[in-house]
Amino acid sequence: MTSSAAATIALTDVAARRGNTTIWDQGSFDIPQPSITAVIGPNGSGKSTLLHLLLGLLEPYSGTVEVFGSEPREASEQLGFVPQSYHVPGSDYLTVLEYVRLGKIGNQFFWRSPKGMDQQVADAIEAVGLAGYERRRLRHLSGGEQQRAAIAQSLMNQPKTLLMDEPFASLDVRHQQRLAELIHGLRMDHSIGSLVVVHDLNPILPYLDGVIYLLDGHAHYAPTSEAVDEDLLTHLYGCPVQVTRTAQGDIFTRVTGHAP
Ligand SMILES: Nc1ncnc2c1ncn2[C@@H]1O[C@H](COP(=O)(O)OP(=O)(O)O)[C@@H](O)[C@H]1O
Ligand SMILES: [Mg+2]
Repeated sequence: MTSSAAATIALTDVAARRGNTTIWDQGSFDIPQPSITAVIGPNGSGKSTLLHLLLGLLEPYSGTVEVFGSEPREASEQLGFVPQSYHVPGSDYLTVLEYVRLGKIGNQFFWRSPKGMDQQVADAIEAVGLAGYERRRLRHLSGGEQQRAAIAQSLMNQPKTLLMDEPFASLDVRHQQRLAELIHGLRMDHSIGSLVVVHDLNPILPYLDGVIYLLDGHAHYAPTSEAVDEDLLTHLYGCPVQVTRTAQGDIFTRVTGHAP
């Protein structure tokens, strides 16, 4: 594998199966990193399954998956993961500092000097905008703040790309916007890419480089300008979707009718 091919997340004719069921196939794309990519598709179309393939938690049924030029399992430390349910039972009483520190995996924890470790925790907390909250207990944080803590925890291994499963789902509009800005900031200030499962593209749309869309049992990738298309989104969601471009150059999508 050449180094020029290494800074990508690449699928070659991948089929994903659960049990005896093919969830999707024909997945072939090469996404340069760092970039911001949305993963969209109806419920059960295999969005979480895609993340599990990239994390090496699931083997492809056929085809190859390469994460930064390696097999997913070998590349797992280069990815951060914020699962859909990031709440760890019993974590309520941990402080932000303790919880974020838990993100450090493997024996690096033991040989790194505590000072280096502390700096890394501080950097991760700073990166997600939780500086000043270090001593607060998780149970005293809002949902949006807890999510930031989960992202900080996933930053502890200095990943090149973050995988996030529906991180916008339980946030109000303002916090959705703040999360999108955080994802953008990680990309701009720390060169960390994100692959984000979403149902609504709008919060992330201003920062989005491309979209993986799971349509009719196949996995596709297209740059944002091609994927944010009325016919495509209408077909994907099964209800009429309008794409609006404002005079200021902003784009947003909206559902304009009911599913047939
Ligand atoms: N561990 C599993 N074993 C068997 N089937 C599964 C498993 N996980 C998910 N599935 C099935 O695979 C399909 C895709 O699931 P998933 O990737 O979670 O979809 P999405 O995230 O798009 O909602 C669903 O039909 C789901 O029921
Ligand atoms: Mg899912």
